[in-house]
Amino acid sequence: MKKLFVLLVAAMFSLESLADEGMWLPSLISSRMKDMRSKGFRLTAKDIYDINSASLKDAVVLFGGGCTGELVSAEGLLLTNHHCGYGAIQRLSSVEHDYLTYGFWAMSRAEELPCEGLSVSFLVRMEDVTARLAAGEERKAIIDAAAAEGKGFHASIEDMYYGNQQFLFVYRSFNDVRLVGTPPSAIGKFGGDTDNWMWPRHTGDFSVFRVYADKENQPAAYSPDNVPYRPARHLPVSTKGISEGDFTMIYGFPGNTQEYVLSDAVDYIADVSDPMKIALRTKRLDIISAAQERDPGTRIQYAAKHAGIANAWKKWQGEVLGIRRLGTADKKREYEKRFAAWAADKPQYASLLDSMHAAYGRQKENYYLYELYAETLMTLEMPQMAERILKIKEENGDVAAKMARYYRDFDASIDRALAKAMLAEFVGRIPQGRMPQALADKIAQYGSADAYVDHIYDTSLAADAATAAEVTAEDPAAEFRSMVTANYPREYRARNLSDLKDIKRWYGPYLKALMEWDTERAFYPDANLTLRVAYGSVAGYEYADGEYHRCNTTLDGIIAKDNPEIYDYNVPQSLRDAWAAKDYGRWGCVINGKLTVPVCFIATNHTTGGNSGSPIINGRGELVGINFDRTWRSTMSDVEFDPAICRNISVDIRYVLFVIDRIGGASYLLDEMTLR
Ligand code: ARG
Ligand code: ASP
Repeated sequence: MKKLFVLLVAAMFSLESLADEGMWLPSLISSRMKDMRSKGFRLTAKDIYDINSASLKDAVVLFGGGCTGELVSAEGLLLTNHHCGYGAIQRLSSVEHDYLTYGFWAMSRAEELPCEGLSVSFLVRMEDVTARLAAGEERKAIIDAAAAEGKGFHASIEDMYYGNQQFLFVYRSFNDVRLVGTPPSAIGKFGGDTDNWMWPRHTGDFSVFRVYADKENQPAAYSPDNVPYRPARHLPVSTKGISEGDFTMIYGFPGNTQEYVLSDAVDYIADVSDPMKIALRTKRLDIISAAQERDPGTRIQYAAKHAGIANAWKKWQGEVLGIRRLGTADKKREYEKRFAAWAADKPQYASLLDSMHAAYGRQKENYYLYELYAETLMTLEMPQMAERILKIKEENGDVAAKMARYYRDFDASIDRALAKAMLAEFVGRIPQGRMPQALADKIAQYGSADAYVDHIYDTSLAADAATAAEVTAEDPAAEFRSMVTANYPREYRARNLSDLKDIKRWYGPYLKALMEWDTERAFYPDANLTLRVAYGSVAGYEYADGEYHRCNTTLDGIIAKDNPEIYDYNVPQSLRDAWAAKDYGRWGCVINGKLTVPVCFIATNHTTGGNSGSPIINGRGELVGINFDRTWRSTMSDVEFDPAICRNISVDIRYVLFVIDRIGGASYLLDEMTLR
């Protein structure tokens, strides 16, 4: 136990060599202070995380289920991404009030819109409970005690370094969150899927919310009597801007990385999993895109679905390219060879790698099977809708009312085409001996997979909203769904292949061994949707031979992309007008010799999914941007971070302020911020 602790501490303090790689635990950030200060950080570890007095962590929240947000006023004002607020904005929108298309700005507190189902969580504290658990304390007892500490509290214990360290995280959640403002999608989602994961970028990817509390400043369910939450700390906003080389730090909730996995896992990602998922999604996207091109109504109906499918699809393509370019798998093999040589005379580690390789050998096909189901049969909508209808009927709910939003964005002919394609892929890709008998029987009964799909879509009452309420368990779509879910290999569902129990159990000892052996390496725990600090600097990069990508973009770049014919590039008239009149007010500045407004910038911070909406903070602790993406060639950073090429993308806070002020006309919001 003691020895492990010494190792963990030594690991945290070791080497500053790995420039900008790492997602660090805030409570242990003092171990990075020397490096951070040498790079331009002017505050202290206690400014970042402190349980006795207010610190930056009190201004950062987990927003919804998987984004980050930050408090920017003493009255609960919160910034996050447009794509993080998207679901809430969509639910508040209707044909008469289309906030996605036109944007929305509350002109007073009374006009702010409650977002049912949306919550934000503040980290109250985190605590290393490794020793307590080792001493026999019960996990559940620790969690329950922490959750009982205050109103709205909840807690969890999370593994770091595959369980070598366990941390208790105590959160306080607020459920009364209201929409304050959002730009139109033509700003908030400018560039759409075309520019997604790309640089140069010109997306104003932000939205504004406010957290409400009861009169005692405690979490409370929505009530008109609630008042704006007064956070212990909010971020001051820098209006000075950034330049190449400036220190930046990002504080947020990265979701999932796997930096320590063996070559087996990298091979699986780059040779098997990503290529399969990319191919399957290409098929789905082709079908949806073709339908969208035929009909403008369909384009809108399937826009969010298309974007959802395309997001990971594009990411995986960058990931495969990046892993190949870096030679990650071969590097890992080399590393494993050196490790094996060191471990050879240590009985406790000598056979570790063999055990791990064997576990991968046993489990790879199982995980593949899970991914195949998840990316094919499980994605079909009509069977899912049939299942949902049955559940509503079971609970005596109103099928028409509850299903309306699904039918609004549903086209049975598209789903039929998707079903044919996905069933064919499933049958073609399923490993020997893994085909469920019931499915094989159905295909035989109807003569072919296509004919079986036609039977389902010709006869299911779920195909049409008008007959939805008549769906029974014998409905062919419902039957199909229950057959699929009955065979779905739930036991192999995990975030990553290496998280399957049979494999993961070896990673505890493996990481311990690595820390003993590779004393030069700066270890940080993989992302797991717990609060982390990453830091780096604003920096362009060499995109290709002779082609340097500068670190920032401007309003002039938006206008250069402007094309009313292309949905993703149709700039709102108000922006065109502001540009034509150079009417930038206090937000205009000279960049590369031109009066313009800064829009986005890139930096070297190590980020991943979940970091969207995270504050980008300068060396003085001021907000300079909101993180929203990476370049797609950076996305292998979930497996290997390359400081030469990995860049996170942020919207410049000055563009955010400009849009709120000059486009939204909501300058009163700036008055409650602390502008510096
Ligand atoms: N690539 C961003 C991240 O992974 C999402 C950006 C959302 N915007 C879009 N056009 N799909 O989540
Ligand atoms: N766009 C991602 C998010 O939504 C961030 C990333 O993957 O870089 O969290």
